Amino acid sequence: MPRRVPPQRPSAKRSSVKSPPVAEGGKRPLKTLERVLSKAGFGSRTEARAWIGDGRVSVNGLVMRNPDQWVDLERDYITFDGKQVRDQARRYILLYKPKGYVTTYQDPEGRPTVYDLLEGVDQFVAQVGRLDLDTSGLLLLTNDTQLAEALTNPERHFPKTYLVKAAGLLTEEQLETLRRGVELSDGLTRPAEVKLLRHTPTCTFLEMAITEGRNRQVRRMIEAVESKVLKLVRVQIGPLTLEGLSMGTFRELTAEEVAALRALTGGAKSGQR
Ligand code: URA
Repeated sequence: MPRRVPPQRPSAKRSSVKSPPVAEGGKRPLKTLERVLSKAGFGSRTEARAWIGDGRVSVNGLVMRNPDQWVDLERDYITFDGKQVRDQARRYILLYKPKGYVTTYQDPEGRPTVYDLLEGVDQFVAQVGRLDLDTSGLLLLTNDTQLAEALTNPERHFPKTYLVKAAGLLTEEQLETLRRGVELSDGLTRPAEVKLLRHTPTCTFLEMAITEGRNRQVRRMIEAVESKVLKLVRVQIGPLTLEGLSMGTFRELTAEEVAALRALTGGAKSGQR
């Protein structure tokens, strides 16, 4: 049975940025058929429109002559002259997220999202894990689903390092508690690497490396030892650091960095979102 082709919908509007409609679940933007074909490297958008008009393109087994039809490359089976169309290019983006940006594709409250910072990135890339609105620092985004899943798989214990400014003067005993792991509402955390950087008269600066990605984990761990996070910056994801990035900017990972991430996750293969 061919799958139903999704109906055309007008673009949803978010602030001044024009967004495409999103797939069920709100996670992936849809693309027009013409764009999917040209992005997959078949030819220009003008050529793609002509081929679609000529009836050479099918979506879920049905010839589709409308180049502006919205499609979801992950769920729709698209063929050109009988050959499956896939978006080949993998993107691995390392963003220095500022505070005040949400890490979702569309925010119902209209706040700025990290996608507003990805100017010129026209494939959809999903964020690997999350950072709170008030957290700044490194956020990896990619359309390589397998690597993303490997990096967020709690069994792999992939390390992420945070610079923490905590209220009050944390004692060695409190730091030891963090190191051993603390009991949170969703269970005991894994041990953390905790380094005291310095005390000021009113607060403590720490570096904390954790190997899980639970919701607000660092904030909740610090609260569990009776302090409060005043500032949180993710400074490292595995081997990736903030070096060379200024706040609000991003860069592509090098092939060596992608290979290093794969090796650290036990050799995840490349997969398309
Ligand atoms: N831990 C937190 O509490 N917040 C983040 O944004 C990331 C890790």
